Amino acid sequence: MKNRTSKILITGGAGYIGTHVLVELLLANQQILVIDNFENSYSKALEQVFKITKKNFDFLNIDIKNVMKLDKVFKDFKPDIVFHLAGKKNVLESKNHPIKYYHTNVIGVTNILSKMDEYDCKKLLLSSSASVYGNPDKIPISEKCLVTPLSVYAKSKFFMEEIVKDWSHLNDNRKVIILRYFNPAGNHYSGEIGEVSRHDQSNLFPSILKVLDKKKKYFNIYGNDLDTKDGSSIRDYIHVSDLAKVHVSCLEYFNEMQKCDVFNIGSGIGTSVKEIIEKIEHILKKQIPIKICDFRDGEMPVSIASIKKANKLLKWDPKENLDSIIKDLIEWKSKYPNGYV
Ligand SMILES: NC(=O)c1ccc[n+]([C@@H]2O[C@H](COP(=O)([O-])OP(=O)(O)OC[C@H]3O[C@@H](n4cnc5c(N)ncnc54)[C@H](O)[C@@H]3O)[C@@H](O)[C@H]2O)c1
Repeated sequence: MKNRTSKILITGGAGYIGTHVLVELLLANQQILVIDNFENSYSKALEQVFKITKKNFDFLNIDIKNVMKLDKVFKDFKPDIVFHLAGKKNVLESKNHPIKYYHTNVIGVTNILSKMDEYDCKKLLLSSSASVYGNPDKIPISEKCLVTPLSVYAKSKFFMEEIVKDWSHLNDNRKVIILRYFNPAGNHYSGEIGEVSRHDQSNLFPSILKVLDKKKKYFNIYGNDLDTKDGSSIRDYIHVSDLAKVHVSCLEYFNEMQKCDVFNIGSGIGTSVKEIIEKIEHILKKQIPIKICDFRDGEMPVSIASIKKANKLLKWDPKENLDSIIKDLIEWKSKYPNGYV
């Protein structure tokens, strides 16, 4: 069914996932205002979105911690729906800067909710993370699995989830969709947008690219004797364009749901770190130097999503795979070797 046009406020829309979500929402003819303070992104990313879609959208440079500026955003734009993606996401950094993380992620979401209340906006989509599951008691992980966040980052996401759940229960008209992303990877097939970060980050594919670019000597494999098929950790990599498309499916689901619902967003397939290295080496016919390191605190050996609930209720199915993730990364890297910098 064709979605009606809604006025959607996207926080963090200049970021890695935000730009991909923005592309899909614009192609679905939604009216968009992006807010971002470029804390971890570049304005060029938004120009690139226009290059792909040829569709206009509005943008304001705003920090979600700035309540006065947020007030003006809600007053002027009057969104029907907020997609809240802005936030800090580095697990390792969160350990050393817990207050920064709680401030941006937790206070940030309360700021958004209080403005939604004030300006009568009743629909919220929250970007959460598979990290809230901690060490899951069952694989694949369903939304019913116990939530035991291990890192400060994961705890901040857990607190955000609890806050938006409480908010959704205040009256019948409020609706919240929580998406727990597993491991987004790759980029738009055009190679025009991709993962760029102002801060050092530990995501797998950007780290491999750094080694291929000789910006890093080795790719660190954290854990070599885990209880997995080859001793390295296993993750559920989801092409970021598949992940972005689920946000369009959520527009329809908002009309059918009540209060709050949580969905895992992954591919449902587990791949080990070593398998990925081998695959990239095979495609590029190049060797990637590796270094074996200790398994990191706050990580889990295996994380694979059950995506049955999203398949059924959001009528969404990932279409891409590891091959297209790698192919699209190579395209992006060949066009923008240094990102947007
Ligand atoms: N990328 C992943 O692996 C992953 C996995 C699970 C969940 N998530 C969640 O998805 C969301 C988006 O992640 P991403 O990978 O696109 O990260 P990102 O860092 O690329 O994007 C986040 C965006 O938010 C902006 N931002 C940060 N603090 C802000 C503030 N105070 N005010 C306004 N804007 C601010 C940044 O500038 C950036 O553009 C985050 O909430 C993250 O926790 C990401």
